[in-house]
Formats: sequence, structure tokens, C-alpha cells
Amino acid sequence: MAENASHPPAHDPARSVERRVEDLLARMTLAEKVEQMHGLKREPIDGLYHTPPNQRLGIPGFRMVDGPRGVRAGQATAFPVGMARGATFDPDLERRVGEAMGLETSARGGNVLLAPCINLLRHPSWGRAQETYGEDPHHLGVMGAAFVEGVQRHVVASVKHYAVNSIENTRFTVSANLSERTLREVYLPHFQRCIAAGAGSVMSAYNRVNGEWCGEHAHLLRDILKGEWGFDGFVESDWLLGMHDTVRAVRAGLDIEMPRPKVYGRNLLAAVESGAVPVDLVDDAVRRILRIMLRFGILDGRPPAAESVVACRGHTDLAREVAEKSLVLLRNAGELLPLDRSRLRRLAVVGELAGAKNLGDRGSSHVSPPWVITALAGIQDAAGPGIVVEPILTDAPSAAQLDRVAAADAVIVVAGLSSKDEGEGQVSAGDRLRLELPEAQEELILRVATANPRAVVVLEGGSAIVVERWIEQVPAVLLAWYPGMEGGLAIAAGLFGDVNPGGRLPITFARSNAELPAFDVEHDEVEYGPLHGYRLADHAGLEPRFAFGFGLSYTRFAYRALVMESSTLRADGLLQATVEVANVGTRAGDEVVQLYVGCARSRLARPVRELKGFARVHLAPGETTRVEFEVPMSELRYWDEAARGWLLEETDYVAWIGPSSRELPLRAEFKVQLG
Ligand code: BGC
Repeated sequence: MAENASHPPAHDPARSVERRVEDLLARMTLAEKVEQMHGLKREPIDGLYHTPPNQRLGIPGFRMVDGPRGVRAGQATAFPVGMARGATFDPDLERRVGEAMGLETSARGGNVLLAPCINLLRHPSWGRAQETYGEDPHHLGVMGAAFVEGVQRHVVASVKHYAVNSIENTRFTVSANLSERTLREVYLPHFQRCIAAGAGSVMSAYNRVNGEWCGEHAHLLRDILKGEWGFDGFVESDWLLGMHDTVRAVRAGLDIEMPRPKVYGRNLLAAVESGAVPVDLVDDAVRRILRIMLRFGILDGRPPAAESVVACRGHTDLAREVAEKSLVLLRNAGELLPLDRSRLRRLAVVGELAGAKNLGDRGSSHVSPPWVITALAGIQDAAGPGIVVEPILTDAPSAAQLDRVAAADAVIVVAGLSSKDEGEGQVSAGDRLRLELPEAQEELILRVATANPRAVVVLEGGSAIVVERWIEQVPAVLLAWYPGMEGGLAIAAGLFGDVNPGGRLPITFARSNAELPAFDVEHDEVEYGPLHGYRLADHAGLEPRFAFGFGLSYTRFAYRALVMESSTLRADGLLQATVEVANVGTRAGDEVVQLYVGCARSRLARPVRELKGFARVHLAPGETTRVEFEVPMSELRYWDEAARGWLLEETDYVAWIGPSSRELPLRAEFKVQLG
């Protein structure tokens, strides 16, 4: 007999979760419900932020721990920062990173990882740039969703900070003011993609959006996240200063106040008792909390992962693989790189950062790994016995030290940023108002390049750097970001060619601040337009120093034979494009093939082009592969302010394929026909 559709089978897991939620909820007192809606303590216990257990009902509570660079509880694997991982353009790799962090979270007794951070990098000054993946909503969404999927094989992932969080110094006060269209098209799509991937939790941001605190933003939380996107997990506030008003927060859909009751707790109980807050709102929040506890096995005492997974060989090897895959070769004049070991006797390694354990900022994303391999240690390890490595670990070398630089066969300068330059406010430097390297390092690079023309700069940092003062004076630049605990090995492998750099820039490197949108850390009201990053550069006809998607290789790739399945598409259609990519050089290497789409004739202002697909491929010398892209037409819609909805324009479009947003050798036109 056919199943009655209105009565799914008893073993339907979603239905049984909902039944158990209702059963528990029915047995909870109001005080017990309200107790589930806040954290336990201001300071973490064993590195974990707890929500209260309820012994009577067997509710264990959440144990939240910070990411996104690794688990911030005791020792853990320190991965390259989010921005480095964004540069891999490799969602499968990011899924593996998520899975490793999920396992380590579980082994440390946690059940919620406070990551990924997917705030869009609107301006490279943002102090927390390193925590996110880049500037493009499509790329951010794909990378974030992969991370969520990996983490959630073990624990809950909390996607943060929702939304429009992109200034650090004024994060507790600022209101980012923007049109609904800019909000929908630029600042939210990546959050929606992570929700579609099943994220169990979302952290609201500290800042305001159009005047409303994000933790009390009914439009962001209730209408969009929980309404339109159907998010059925829970929202927690950002820590301590993310909430302000009890009634507004609970009405807006803020489910858990972290890290301790200030706005909720007693105040929420009183508000319900006085009738200011309907109990239904509390029930809705507690349902979400219990649902996620059940869905992730928390209520049923899912056993933690074994301690031995923490910083295990598999995870530290993965950290190295990610660091290798995130290397971006920015410049290689005269093919100085890769360094040829057989022609090197003396190699000078210069700069304070060469000997530094430079993992990134000291804020909530700080991780303590059992060891860190510095750039110098990595180079010493990889150079081999025939090469004398001369460390000159200062940014202000003496005349004698410069003589040694001049006498070397090649010189590596390690320069860049650290927690003194950028990071989370209060604990690290906050926003980076100077986009260049620290002046002492610029001087260092120029002095070294004058002393020895075979100079390579290794750059570290979590965001774009303005390099104009020195870039033309050095033949080679390798960007390593904050490369994690195994970073030194990856840097060395890139320099000696044991690894062929295949990372690409997930952000635009402008030539000066004048080419960027305004970045205002003075005022509490800031206006955000629709353009930033490559969208702004394309619109204004600027020539960035290094474009979004850019990165060189030790081999060369050729693009040919773009084929579009159809050149007329309907609203429910799929843009299907294939392209041939060949390695026409002499070394194996990785290429990131990028698809951009733009509207040829639009009745409104739209970006020249937007990233709609990317694929990282590995090719042996002489090998050719076909790369396929599929883009649903819904991805090409714009937000129509008058209709208050997404619309697809019936007009002509262009698809471009190539190795960066500014190098697009293949182009094809297509039409969208509605009805
Ligand atoms: C940060 C969050 C972090 C939380 C807990 C906040 O200040 O903004 O990203 O997860 O602290 O450490």
C-alpha cells in the first residue's frame, strides 16, 4: 500500500527530531526555557564557552569554541588563516580543513565551532581581513559552505558575523547604511549559501545595519534568515556587546545571548511574565536550540573524538598542504624563481619576520599549536647540505650584514604584517590604516635589492598590501599570507620549486588608497555603495597592481575552445560552458579557471562582470583538460527595489573565462528569454 504523504514513516529522522523537541519543550518551565537562551560565564571554561546544562531534563548545553584558524582551546592545529585558504580557490580542500577542525573541536569537548567567518572584505584595511576568505560573494559562499559541510560531520558550525561587519575599530557602534539591493546582492548571498549547506548556527554581528543593531535586526534575522532562507537553527549574539534591548532582541529572533546573561536571563523572564514578550517567541528560540542539539547528537551524548586527533600528523600535514596551495606568486621577473639548488652556495635570509612565528592576530581566532615552523627554519630544512643559509634576522641590517647580503648568490627578504599591524580590536592592532608595509620594511627591501639584484620578497599578512614603493625594484615576490604552523616548509617548497605556486588572489591589490572605497573609522554612520574590489576597479577603469584572481605559476597555461551548450536561456535554465585548459609549460602546476558573467545591456547599473564559477585543476606538462561550468539563471538575477524581490533581466549577457578578473581570453554571448 502506498504511504500516505501526510504521515511520513515513523523512522523519518527529521520528524522524530521535531517530536522529541516538542516533548522536551512541553516539560520545561519558563525559567528553564529562558535559561537555555544565554551563556554561562563571561570567561571560557577550559577554553569553551558553555550554555547552562539542565540536569533535570538531561540537556547538556552547548560548548562553543573559537575558530576559524583552528580550535582555540589548549593546543591545536594552527591552519593558515581564512584569507590564505580563500587563495586556494579549492572548496574540497576547505571541506577537509573544516572536517579536521570539527574533529579537534569535538576532541576538546566542544560541540559548536565559532567559524567560518565569511564577512566580505569591502576594504583591505579591515583589521579582521585574515579571518575571512575574500572580497567576492560567490567565492565566499562556496568556500564557507564547504567549510560548514566539513565541520558539521562532527560539530555545529556557526557562521559569523551576520551581517555587513567590515570595520573593526568602530565595530561596537557603527551603522553600515546601504540600500536593500546592495545588501542582498553584495553582503548576503554568501550567508545564504552557508545556510543552504545546512549551517546549524549563525552569530550576529556587533555593528548596526541601517541603524538597527544586528542582534536585534528583525529584517535580517526574522524576515530574511529565518523567513526567506528557512534557517531552522539558532542565532547567538556576538560576545558581550552584541545585544542591547531584551524585547527588541527576542522579537527580532536572537536565540542565545553570549557569553552570559546581561540582556536576557532575568530581564527576559520578567519581560515574558509581564506580557511584554509572548511566550511563543521563547518557545521558538528553545525549539531551535533543542533541534540543533538533537540533530547533532548533543542531547544523546554523542561521544567526543579521541584526544589523539588534536594536531595529529594528518592534520598538520593538511595545514602544510593548505599553506602550499595558498602560495600566490605575484612577480617573477627574469624567472629568478624557483631557486636552483645546484647554483646556490650562499643564501641570505633577511628580516625580522623570517625568524618569527607569524600565525596572525592575537584576537579570538588565535590558536596555540604545538610547534611553528618559521620561514627561516623551513628554508634551512629545504636548502639541503650544500647551501649555506645566512640568517640576518633584522629589518635594519648593519653595513657588514649588507655586505653579506651582497656576497650571497640570492637573498630572501621576509616582510609583511603581523598582529602589530592588523587584527581584532582590543587584543590586536584593529584596522590597518596604513596599507603599505611598515616603513622600516620598505627601506629594508630597497636596501637589500640595491645590494643584491637576486632578491626575492616573501610577503606575509592577511590582506592586500600597497607595494608601489618597492615592487619594481625586486624581481620576485611570493605571497604566503599567515601560513600556519607548517608555513615555513610551504614557503621553502615554493621558493625551491618543490611546489608550484597555484594560489590566486581572493582580493584586489590596489595601487593606492585612492583606488578604494572610503574606509571611515571616525564616524558611527557609514554609507556603503554597491562597488568595491574588482567590481569598483572594473567600473572605474582602474588598473589594480594585482587583480582579483591573479597569480603566476612556474608553468604556463593556454585557454581554448569555449563551448556554450545554448546561447538562449530561459529563467529556469542553466548556463553550461566548457573550456579546454592546457599546461603548455614544462612543469606540473595548478590553474584556477574562472568564469565571470556580465550583462551586456541592462536597464540599471550593474557590475561589469561578476565571478560565477571557478575550478582549480592540476595539470602535468603537456596535459589538457576540459573544465565544465554550470550556472543557474537564478544566479544572474538582481534585487529589484520596487518589486522587493529578485528579477531576471531579459537581455544580452556575456560570459568570460580566464585566469583572473583582468585576463579573460575567452568570451561568449548569450540571451535570456523569459516566458
Ligand atoms: C568575536 C567573535 C568571537 C567571539 C568569542 C567576539 O569578540 O567578534 O568572532 O567568536 O568574540 O571569542
